[in-house]
Amino acid sequence: MKPMQEKRVSLGTLANVTASITGALIVLLLVTAQAYSQGLPGRWMAVGRTLDNGEQQKSILELKQSGDQLTGTVKAQDFSFEVKGTVNGNHFELYGPGNPNKLFLVGDLVNGELHAMQGHHEFVAKVASPSDDIPTVSYIEPPSLHNIPDNGLAKTPPMGWNSWNLFAGKIDDQTVRTMADAMVSSGMRDAGYIYVNIDDTWEGVRDEQGNLQSNNKFPNMKALADYVHSKGLKLGIYSSPGPRTCAGYPASYGHEAQDARTFAGWGIDYLKYDWCSAGRIYKNEQLQPVYQMMGDALEATGKPIVYSLCEYGLGSVEKWGPAVGSNLWRTTDDIRDSWESMIGNVETQVPTAPYAGPGHWNDPDMLEIGNGHMTDDEYRTHMSLWALVAAPLLAGNDVRNMTSATKSILLNKEVIAIDQDSLGKQASPRKNGDLETWIKPLADGGAAVGVVNRGSTAMQATVNAGDLQLGGKVNEARDLWGHKDVKFKNGTYSAMVPSHGVLLLKISAK
Ligand code: GLA
Repeated sequence: MKPMQEKRVSLGTLANVTASITGALIVLLLVTAQAYSQGLPGRWMAVGRTLDNGEQQKSILELKQSGDQLTGTVKAQDFSFEVKGTVNGNHFELYGPGNPNKLFLVGDLVNGELHAMQGHHEFVAKVASPSDDIPTVSYIEPPSLHNIPDNGLAKTPPMGWNSWNLFAGKIDDQTVRTMADAMVSSGMRDAGYIYVNIDDTWEGVRDEQGNLQSNNKFPNMKALADYVHSKGLKLGIYSSPGPRTCAGYPASYGHEAQDARTFAGWGIDYLKYDWCSAGRIYKNEQLQPVYQMMGDALEATGKPIVYSLCEYGLGSVEKWGPAVGSNLWRTTDDIRDSWESMIGNVETQVPTAPYAGPGHWNDPDMLEIGNGHMTDDEYRTHMSLWALVAAPLLAGNDVRNMTSATKSILLNKEVIAIDQDSLGKQASPRKNGDLETWIKPLADGGAAVGVVNRGSTAMQATVNAGDLQLGGKVNEARDLWGHKDVKFKNGTYSAMVPSHGVLLLKISAK
């Protein structure tokens, strides 16, 4: 029971309370009046998710307007960056730094509030009061460059599953466990899909010693790793060289060595390291030394950990990826489950072909096969192209629940063998109208050849043995989707290919 006197309120206290209520009302009225009078210029505050320790994620947007041009600063949790954009009536668009022309925020001024989208996330900001502020982190100078020795991993492109394409922020311990079970029961593991990779949104907060903990969706990461290992699989995790991940969770800035030790201690076998908020602190020219920090940290753990860079193809990564100890690096922006996105990604990485090879691969992003927005022909083309360009094969669908068509695509062992060929060559295309021919030399002296029909009607594709540079006569080939041997006549083989479909042949050396 509380003592009675606590309930008594003195006149002085009443006066104080009245004063503070009046003060708060005045601030509110001023702020509201400002909201209606200011238009877009001014200080805005958005409140985002609450972390496990109760900390609310906030960002402050300070905008200036000159004609239809906007400039400003965003202070997000731990870092700040400049934005530029335009305004048209109540509608505005703001672009961030780092990634050229990357749309940061697009929305409208509605009843004195900003209602916008930041990527896929909703962003609602109200006029900030003068006391609203956010701490920022201090700049850490990246180290000078040196070469990190090859970790000996990923002699063929990594294969597995990743949570992001399907689950995004809705991934948790239980889902990862059921997915690991399904990787075994569906035959994915035995076909070579070994890594089960947790993408963004697993991160909790740091403890008093600065050790990053998993959040309450992942109660015990070590136990989860043990479970995944008990299934004959390996576990992957995700972080960023910036202070926050792309989804706004705590990341490894200033904690590289400590986080690498944490990951190794949990038994993690694969790290995807996503540029994200590092782009607000560092310039693209600093990608290499920044990625080197985690490369060194992983090496120092002594545990074999595949090192996957995610920097959307920035900074000519293919030229220095191996030097920072990386096994694969993203060559493109994020894939979506659409023909245009898939074909665009594989096209974007064509110039990087000479840089792929055992231990270090170009990554046009994870697979969308089975996620439902492309046709089966398009998914067969997706799988064929990823195999031809020696891309990592990280399934991004629900392997617990696959249609027979999805299974037949992801589990086509002859196509997987093209991807996993030990020579590790990345095919490049030759165009002939809507038909595109990709040729990949194989370790046995043979070749895989894919003819993709990018047109909107079925077309006859012809493979000329002379183009394959195999030396000697080609009499027969294996049709990897038709599951049959086919005959070349007078040095050519022809077949009809549906719109957005593929003819994929393997020609063995004589
Ligand atoms: C970036 C990456 C994606 C995914 C998300 C997670 O967009 O490119 O692959 O990891 O971040 O937030």
